[in-house]
Amino acid sequence: MTVHTPTSATPYGTLPPASPMPQRSPVSLPRLAQMRAAGEKITMLTAYDATFAAMADAAGVECILVGDSLGMVCQGLHSTVGVSLDDMRYHTACVARGLHRAQATAWLIADLPYGSYQASREQALHSASALMQAGAHMVKLEGGGWTAPTVQFLTERGIPVCAHLGLTPQTVHALGGYRVQGRDDVAAALLRRQARELQDAGASMLVLEMVPAGLAAELTQTLTQCHTIGIGAGNGTAGQVLVLHDMLGVNLGKTPKFVRNFMQEAGSVQAAMQAYVRCVKDGSFPDNQLHAW
Ligand code: KIV
Repeated sequence: MTVHTPTSATPYGTLPPASPMPQRSPVSLPRLAQMRAAGEKITMLTAYDATFAAMADAAGVECILVGDSLGMVCQGLHSTVGVSLDDMRYHTACVARGLHRAQATAWLIADLPYGSYQASREQALHSASALMQAGAHMVKLEGGGWTAPTVQFLTERGIPVCAHLGLTPQTVHALGGYRVQGRDDVAAALLRRQARELQDAGASMLVLEMVPAGLAAELTQTLTQCHTIGIGAGNGTAGQVLVLHDMLGVNLGKTPKFVRNFMQEAGSVQAAMQAYVRCVKDGSFPDNQLHAW
């Protein structure tokens, strides 16, 4: 059988050997839709540089997110609000180069940072184009309601969009902190409406962050054209995402309750990434009991 292994010798040392993964074709939107139809969970991890991106791909992660969480884990900021479009462009290009050098096949998503898409649809197009030209395959933006026309504007122009509802870190100050969203009936109804609008506007993926597991599972059933990716949203979503530093247990701040430290169990970065993929696919992560809000 042909295998897919990362390059182990680098100019800086030798990476731990990875278990061979079956070779896969490049991850694309049709491929993600096929996985969903077949009931296979989609895995997503953040990466901010070339090496970790190539390692995540070699571990079998389908989607790599250059998240604006880089503000916290790379830049030492207290929130994602200080991350600029230039920062995102730089890290997206680093990740894209790493994937290209490793002949990797993951789907690359880049966050539109705070202040780069709120002013107008044209501003969003300009910012999204910069990230696509840096190597992204899709852009992610936060919020519902007012974002639907922007999503439509981008998707009509050939830019795939991932939406993000629930806890939206760029609006943490307006939300009053990093807390669970969609808990009461009114908030849940709003989330349902916004999710439907985003799907209708053309979003093909939707990150649901810190929303009750039951609501996330219900949205997953209703949104047939838009793949839900959960983070702190139980295990009923079409896929899962974690921040790389959180799952490796090297977070400088407070580790969210829904995170599992895969490094502790695995012993190497590559094995931790492989364990994450395995646990998401077999449904053992996340544990609905532990992460029900
Ligand atoms: O910025 C990020 O890493 C994210 C994930 C937490 C989904 O948006």
